[in-house]
Amino acid sequence: MPSELDPKDWNAFRAVAHQALDDAITYMQTVGDRPVWRTVPEDVKKALREPLPETGQPLEQVYSQFKELVLPYPNGNIHPRFWGWVMGTGSPTAMLAEMLGGAMNAHLAGYDQSPSIVEEQTLEWLKQMLGYPMEATGVLVSGCTTANLIGLAVARHAADPEIRASGLGGRQMTVYGSTETHSWAAKACELMGLGKAALRLVPVDSDFRIKLDDLAAQVAADRAAGMQPFCVIGNAGTVNTAATDDLNALADFCEREDLWFHVDGAFGALAALVPKLRPQVAGMERADSLAFDLHKWGYLPYEIACIFVRDSAVHRSTFATKAHYLNAIAGGVAREPLVFPDLGIQLSRGFRALKLWMALKNQGVDAWARAIERNVDDCQYLAARITATPELELLAPVPLNIVCFRYRAPEAEANALNQAILVRLQEDGIALPSSTVIDGKFAIRVANTNHRTSREDFDVLVEAVVRLGSSLLVPAQ
Ligand SMILES: Cc1ncc(COP(=O)(O)O)c(C=O)c1O
Repeated sequence: MPSELDPKDWNAFRAVAHQALDDAITYMQTVGDRPVWRTVPEDVKKALREPLPETGQPLEQVYSQFKELVLPYPNGNIHPRFWGWVMGTGSPTAMLAEMLGGAMNAHLAGYDQSPSIVEEQTLEWLKQMLGYPMEATGVLVSGCTTANLIGLAVARHAADPEIRASGLGGRQMTVYGSTETHSWAAKACELMGLGKAALRLVPVDSDFRIKLDDLAAQVAADRAAGMQPFCVIGNAGTVNTAATDDLNALADFCEREDLWFHVDGAFGALAALVPKLRPQVAGMERADSLAFDLHKWGYLPYEIACIFVRDSAVHRSTFATKAHYLNAIAGGVAREPLVFPDLGIQLSRGFRALKLWMALKNQGVDAWARAIERNVDDCQYLAARITATPELELLAPVPLNIVCFRYRAPEAEANALNQAILVRLQEDGIALPSSTVIDGKFAIRVANTNHRTSREDFDVLVEAVVRLGSSLLVPAQ
């Protein structure tokens, strides 16, 4: 008897699936015609909170509920006027890859199968694209938080391999990064048992780059106090303002001080694809480990990121485990040893590489480079428009793809006013920047990793902020 988990009637399934694919294509094609975002209506929220489905219902019904209750209410990140946080836009080609990968449901621990070769090949391409040493080992992971955690775990293992067996004991190991370092670093220190206090946050200069003298002083002071500094984090594109530390100087410092050099290039690493931006991230290729996302500036759908480690032996020995049931044997599918579980946290892994493989082959690296270059040029255009608009104020330099600005107002009102402007932009479905705080000032923050954005979209934003600012600002009595 056929299982109930496969369709009873494959032709009926095919009809619904064809309709769903058609709808998904139209949905992506027409995304710019809809508001950027709208809140989930109360009745939809209520309808989604339903009891456990004890018995099944026809796929047509489930699909029509998806269309009515789920599809219309995303947070908007594939829309041309979405620039919140650092969220990617995905692409139709990669959507197709996700579906095909789902059909294969490949298990990517290794084995003698073409999906493993696809992942290995895409990793080779990524090294080549970023100019990272080809002898490095790498693995695709869910996101840069995980990629960075893996990098830091390898750094700790390189400093003291004994920790795998005995734990930290009384060791007080310390990690260094600028105050602009993303919150993944504190999380990683906590998870690794180092404690958040192990993360030494070093001040930045007026360009939000780590102050090298302060870094050196902190490392020296910690050593004098009996701590064990082991790693420096360099940022290639900070999350607040897209600042990049002087990576060559950090690499030199780490060499001199015998410290592991880890680079968080979540989105900034991809700037290396553009010849005129490459100098900004120079030195990244000297990192002992490099983490970056592909679901941000690689324009791929969630989730996909990568970690590279220059010293493959240290990389493997950080994670390698043994179990009889996972042994390679002389022939058959397990003739190839498992590659990926020894390079990271996961044993069972999905076929993330397929969307990368298909997108790169279909779009070409050149198209990614052009999209990144355009994102950066358009941010310069936005910054110039802000500077030329007397009502607006730029709050930070714009080295790459993030623009922080605000509507000018008396200082006592500025933060509340700009927050109100941001909420109206979002709730009116006009545009979706997010926010940050720069030197105590609430900033409207535009992070452009959106290949669908045009300059006209930024014109809409500037005009809307000016209009909302003047209507929401209460005139002085
Ligand atoms: C600089 C930086 N590092 C790390 C991360 C975390 O990446 P993910 O959200 O993919 O876990 C982000 C996310 O925005 C980031 O901007």
